[in-house]
Amino acid sequence: MKRFYVTMAFTVAAFAFAAAQLPAYRNASLPLEERVEDALSRMTLQEKIGVIHAQSKFSSAGVPRLGIPELWMTDGPHGIRPEVLWDEWDQAGWTNDSCMAFPALTALAATWNPDMALLYGRSIGEEARYRKKDVLLGPGVNIYRTPLNGRNFEYMGEDPYLASRMVVPYIKGVQQNGVAACVKHYALNNEETLRHQYNVVVDDRTLYEIYLPAFKAAVTEGGAWAIMPAYNLYRNEHAAQNKRLLNDILRGEWQFDGVAISDWGAVHDTRSSITQGVDMEFGTWTDGLSMGKTNAYDAYYLAQPYMELIEKGEYTTRELDDKVRRVLRLALRTAMDAGKPLGSMNSPEHAEAARRIAGEGIVLLKNDGGVLPVDLSRKPTIVVVGENAVKMMTVGGGSSSLKVRYEISPLDGLRKQVSTQGTVKYVRGYVGDVGGSYNGVQSGQDLNDSRTADELIAEAVEAARSADYVIFVGGLNKSEHQDCEGADRTELGLPYAQDRLISALAKVNPRMVVVNISGNAVAMPWINQVPAVLQGWYLGSEAGNALADVLIGKVNPSGRLPFTFPVKLEDAGIAPMPQLQHPADTVDVVYEEGLFVGYRGMDKRRVKALFPFGHGLSYTTFAYGKPVLDKKKMTADDTLTLTLTLTNTGTREGEEVVQLYIGDKKSSLPRPAKELKAFRKVKLAAGESREISFTIDRAALSYFDDNAHRWVAEPGAFEAIIAASADDVKAKVPFTLE
Ligand code: BGC
Repeated sequence: MKRFYVTMAFTVAAFAFAAAQLPAYRNASLPLEERVEDALSRMTLQEKIGVIHAQSKFSSAGVPRLGIPELWMTDGPHGIRPEVLWDEWDQAGWTNDSCMAFPALTALAATWNPDMALLYGRSIGEEARYRKKDVLLGPGVNIYRTPLNGRNFEYMGEDPYLASRMVVPYIKGVQQNGVAACVKHYALNNEETLRHQYNVVVDDRTLYEIYLPAFKAAVTEGGAWAIMPAYNLYRNEHAAQNKRLLNDILRGEWQFDGVAISDWGAVHDTRSSITQGVDMEFGTWTDGLSMGKTNAYDAYYLAQPYMELIEKGEYTTRELDDKVRRVLRLALRTAMDAGKPLGSMNSPEHAEAARRIAGEGIVLLKNDGGVLPVDLSRKPTIVVVGENAVKMMTVGGGSSSLKVRYEISPLDGLRKQVSTQGTVKYVRGYVGDVGGSYNGVQSGQDLNDSRTADELIAEAVEAARSADYVIFVGGLNKSEHQDCEGADRTELGLPYAQDRLISALAKVNPRMVVVNISGNAVAMPWINQVPAVLQGWYLGSEAGNALADVLIGKVNPSGRLPFTFPVKLEDAGIAPMPQLQHPADTVDVVYEEGLFVGYRGMDKRRVKALFPFGHGLSYTTFAYGKPVLDKKKMTADDTLTLTLTLTNTGTREGEEVVQLYIGDKKSSLPRPAKELKAFRKVKLAAGESREISFTIDRAALSYFDDNAHRWVAEPGAFEAIIAASADDVKAKVPFTLE
């Protein structure tokens, strides 16, 4: 025993001695900041300049002399992007880079379940780590302002509170793997049209109450190690060189210690980048999508031109050192973290996670007469109609496009699960986008079909006539002007004559289910003709399995809409994007609606939604007991507790999302009628009851006073509103703030 202790003591001493011999920056037992300062002190000017801009499409140089590694970035946010050539967007042709596609972030937000966000982050972080990536370019938390935004599918919906609660665990999950989450696109990047040229004009209240909270939560609660300034302008400065957004708010108010990594091609100038810009410059002289200038890295704004200004004495290294410190911090947290996990790729656990998240995110919008779930005991004949039942959805849409190990289509998923318990027949119904390739990744599908819409509809109607169920799978896809980066949608309606097809099918068969695949709201002029509608999102590799789980009732739907479905585009209350007069100009986009985005706007204008924010049905039913507040008055630093009993009144287990909104009855500034301030997803067995409670604090009552530049909870009358959606209020409980 004694010998053991002596040997142990020697070993510990030997390690301590070895550690003491290491330069401080390599000694993991020292505090992070000490290591950063040590590394910085050893770097030459050239080496410093070398680490603050790209060396290839997705990497930055390290410091070879000091063993400080390169940093590798990857899109994000739904899976790990395949390898591209050093200097091009084209595929590198690797054979080990096919990933698991997780559901799009709209689907994640629709779970209303922060545990799913943690599972998502952890899983995608493991994939990134296994692929030796240090920064995951995601998640995206831009607020869903208009249903036309081509990138809404990559974001977490219209509500700042929901997006904040979902983004924090995602980031934590990713970063547990020694991979930085890079939250994007900071800020006000709410449209794709003219994305490099529009200048957002927004008042401070709206900025702080609607557009910043999810970014703030990502930084201050999620501890994000990186953030991506966007393409657009705000206060006439590009977001990547924006004093207010970067210096005042991000680094000042939120004390961000991480790296601001420019969006690809978002930097436009050296001087302002030095003093108020990003810490790392990527993708300059590319359009961020497909075009790019070759080998221009030395000419980047934060490369040679910056060095020359320092050499000329116009700048000291003060700003440079701050940027380099941030990059070193990033390296130490990721690539240089010797204890980081190994990661994993395409594991059964990742497949399981993708399927679970997708299943929880699917929203049952309508289910008249209990058409769903499909009753397999009757050995039904099911006719599946529509291109989206077979089309691969992981290829396309812009930078989030993936090369997947596999993708289960809705048709295959359904066939697999129905198996011998019924018959599944497929007809095309409509032809949409037959492309199937993005940046050199091919879906390998031949979807060409030269028949006219009339011919396709006639065929589908014939097949549908005698079926026990008709399941139409349509919606948008990730081609240009559908749900796609770089271009917005042009209408709320469904493309490719789908409305006509759906109406025709509904006429001949009353047992009709519409599965809408999209990352955006769509118009449903046929809504009264069909009994059941599911919102399907872009669900990733496990899409078909997850959809079939819900269709046949293996999974009881529990998703809730993270954004409003308006009846028609005008109901969204967002002015159309202005035209550009001259190609080189910028154009102001004025957020005239202010705070009144999504349900806040619907409430104010008293417009009824087709399907409201927070809406979603289940195969079971729930009864809400009377909510009770522990006190009727709240004082200075007090909180209130609201309690209610929820009962599953149906015959099967299910999950309900109880939503708490707060309404300020009288305030000196205009406020939305109600705002989401808490929610809880509750799983109950058939017949089970549970008491649930919410804490209401001052933050839940506050608005941003733009004159005083602070959050204010104004004394007066409030109400706590318990609801199952923005339009399904169960009870209101009044209280006052003293
Ligand atoms: C997109 C980013 C993306 C980057 C790198 C840009 O076009 O806006 O979201 O991370 O390209 O692919």
